[in-house]
Amino acid sequence: MNQILAGNICYSKSVTTLASVERGYLICKDGESAGVFAEIPEQYRGFPLTDYGDCLIIPGLCDLHIHAPQYSYRGLGMDLELLDWLKTYTFPEEAKFADLAHAERAYGIFADALKRGATTRAGVFATIHPQATELLMEKLDAAGLVTYVGKLNMDRNSPDYLREETEESVKATGEWIARTKGKLKNTSPILSPRFVPTCSSELMRGLKELQKEHGLPVQSHLSENHSEIAWVRELHPESGGYGQVYNSFGLFGGESTPTIMAHCVWSKGSEEALLRDNGVFVAHCPQSNTNLASGIAPVRRFLQRGIRVGLGTDVAGGCHASIFRAMSDAIQASKLYWRLIDQNDTPLTVPEAFYLGTLGGGAFFGKVGSFEPGYEFDAVVIDDTDLATIRTLSIEDRLARIIYLSEDSQIRDKYVRGYKIQ
Ligand code: GUN
Ligand code: FE
Repeated sequence: MNQILAGNICYSKSVTTLASVERGYLICKDGESAGVFAEIPEQYRGFPLTDYGDCLIIPGLCDLHIHAPQYSYRGLGMDLELLDWLKTYTFPEEAKFADLAHAERAYGIFADALKRGATTRAGVFATIHPQATELLMEKLDAAGLVTYVGKLNMDRNSPDYLREETEESVKATGEWIARTKGKLKNTSPILSPRFVPTCSSELMRGLKELQKEHGLPVQSHLSENHSEIAWVRELHPESGGYGQVYNSFGLFGGESTPTIMAHCVWSKGSEEALLRDNGVFVAHCPQSNTNLASGIAPVRRFLQRGIRVGLGTDVAGGCHASIFRAMSDAIQASKLYWRLIDQNDTPLTVPEAFYLGTLGGGAFFGKVGSFEPGYEFDAVVIDDTDLATIRTLSIEDRLARIIYLSEDSQIRDKYVRGYKIQ
């Protein structure tokens, strides 16, 4: 797909470097960016051009952590902490996805919402139900987004109505992988043990076998909440830590096992070192961490230590499915962290938060999240005329205002791998 988009183009080159070209040209060649230019280079002059005038053009946003079935109750049930919240609101809601008619309607709403927003890539949790998970994968694929979708595993410490037998969980997961891997254009399976408390050691070992057999990535939750962490310590007193439990089963990053761990609010010391050494992606979910009163993840420290970080909305722990919103929440949370917890950890800046929501998380998907040459062509076109002001704004100023004030209605067009989402 060869084409040119014209407009005000803005993207991250690194965590601190934001590039912008006013009234520039973004070239798409064979589904990849061929770069951003002030004038169209000679060799691309024949490509069809879409002129977006004064709109902003930025890379698609990457949501490293979102729960599709929880979209139904976002904005509700924000009065409990994690473990009670799961028991009271989450598990009963997820149980409804045993019913395919329910899944059809609820996942239809979810896929529509993701399609309308600025997200182009996502790591998505479904439920333990394989058929409903397949249905979600088909809907997301039809929406044109690039996603990893996980059928969850839960064989202990879960209510009877939402618990699998260990062997059955591994078997059903293997069959689901066989049915879905390589079958859809943009949607792939990802192993998703819900979190250590709901997954026995035997189940974890079974999942590692599947991981090796199929070469799948992994997503899960880590060190989100004090009671959860204490529970993991009780369940695995010999482990040396929460991250170490996943690691002992080979489900914690490393060359052959790309992994996303959501939250990491309380990761420190040897767990932090393991995150870095194994190249695990932290999905920072500031809104969820606030809503569930989990705490504030030390993102500045993670970045300084070379840990890979992206952003997640964690719907329905987070109410908003917007990564713009996650960017502004990340900045605000980092200010409280700096003020209240550690004065060495300076607040995140707008370019840093933008990096986290684009290139930072995008790296999990390959060369994604930037317009540097060779990156996959995911782009969002934003018309910010409804943020009119008497002031004259730079491109960077306009980006900051979009991050703080964005609405889905400002999204004019969205491209994924060079294709326009219709
Ligand atoms: N830990 C285990 N399951 C969940 C979940 O659904 N949401 C969040 N925020 N944390 C979890
Ligand atoms: Fe989550």
